[in-house]
Amino acid sequence: MDCETVHPLKLFDLAKSQRRLLYASAPMVRYSKLAFRQTVYSYGVDLCWTPMIIAKEFNRSQLARDSDFTLSTNGNQPPTIVQFGSNSSLELSRASSLVAPYVSGVDLNCGCPQPWACAESLGAALMEKRELVREMVIETRDRLRRDGWAVGKEPDADKPAGRSVSVKIRIHSDLRKTVDFINTVLGPEHDRNIDFLTIHPRTRTTASKVPINLDALELLTSMFGDKVPILLSGDVFSLNTLPFSSPFLDPSAVDNPHLNQVGDENGSTEKRTPHLPKLAGLMSARAILANPALFAGYDACPWDAVDLFMNNVARCPLPHKVVLHHLSEMCGPGLGPNKSTLLSKPERIAMLACTNMCDLIDFLDSKIGFRDSTHGLRRLY
Ligand SMILES: Cc1cc2nc3c(=O)[nH]c(=O)nc-3n(C[C@H](O)[C@H](O)[C@H](O)COP(=O)(O)O)c2cc1C
Repeated sequence: MDCETVHPLKLFDLAKSQRRLLYASAPMVRYSKLAFRQTVYSYGVDLCWTPMIIAKEFNRSQLARDSDFTLSTNGNQPPTIVQFGSNSSLELSRASSLVAPYVSGVDLNCGCPQPWACAESLGAALMEKRELVREMVIETRDRLRRDGWAVGKEPDADKPAGRSVSVKIRIHSDLRKTVDFINTVLGPEHDRNIDFLTIHPRTRTTASKVPINLDALELLTSMFGDKVPILLSGDVFSLNTLPFSSPFLDPSAVDNPHLNQVGDENGSTEKRTPHLPKLAGLMSARAILANPALFAGYDACPWDAVDLFMNNVARCPLPHKVVLHHLSEMCGPGLGPNKSTLLSKPERIAMLACTNMCDLIDFLDSKIGFRDSTHGLRRLY
């Protein structure tokens, strides 16, 4: 079964024509599975990433394919990018060839900082292997072209067979290395090797609680934003509190909790909001996990999103513990400034004690019904 897909570059264009940034839901191991992707898609996300899938396993095992990658047979298939973890042109191109009929594009993870991944030369370890990354994306594009897919970027964006190849990166502490990496991977200006680029402006060793490096993002978007559409991944916590300005953002949306402090020669500091006119899109991970309605403008998770997620889980099941994790994120305080919660801490602990789906649905029904009698969980059973 082939799927109707939309080319990501078309979605970037569409967002631009609506004078806004493109909205993306991040790759998240364990969590950005189909039921979650469908949920965020209903709340305004343009493009959804799968969790990172190890290409080598995917190529060798039918069981790995069945468990790592599910798609909807029910019409509601969000525009999807499959992200692979790989350090081999052959493995990445083969895995990409297998998923191409069902998705909008494939992405290479060059950002996973976990020691096991780096020890295998996967994820962020690839930031030290720019020639290899270039070879991998070129080979993948060639393989897809040979399979009959239209991988010519903008000129192919309207074709039903149009597919994208992209990478998601972190930065180096020496930004010159990041510039070299991007130049190498992009290749020739008239025929770049990737459709778009996602930048997570933290180094491999920066903790996720440390704010993103906005100076680095400003430099990289100003250098490369005209050559390739760039998505920011990192600290997109709510649409109203982004730490930078953009012509594609409502100016009143820029309410900045961690503005850059810029010192002058007298030692005084003034606040500076970076302006990112060449940024093309926003990708959220932790915040959208807690609030799948983030890109629809909600500053905290609404009950309706919980309801929709549970309905999607009923059709596209997830392991029970993964469902519980999603719900505890959605019912707890989010990452934006609005810290209101759907459930109190003792209620969330009680929810986590539900050992099966029936008890969990009854529990949620009692809470949703208690708060708003017009909104019970839509009965599916
Ligand atoms: C639970 C979890 C799983 C993640 N899995 C992946 C992954 O599979 N691939 C990837 O490139 N990044 C992964 N990331 C990193 C995010 O995609 C994102 O780049 C990072 O969390 C910064 O964005 P945020 O500030 O919106 O959380 C993961 C992050 C989280 C929290």
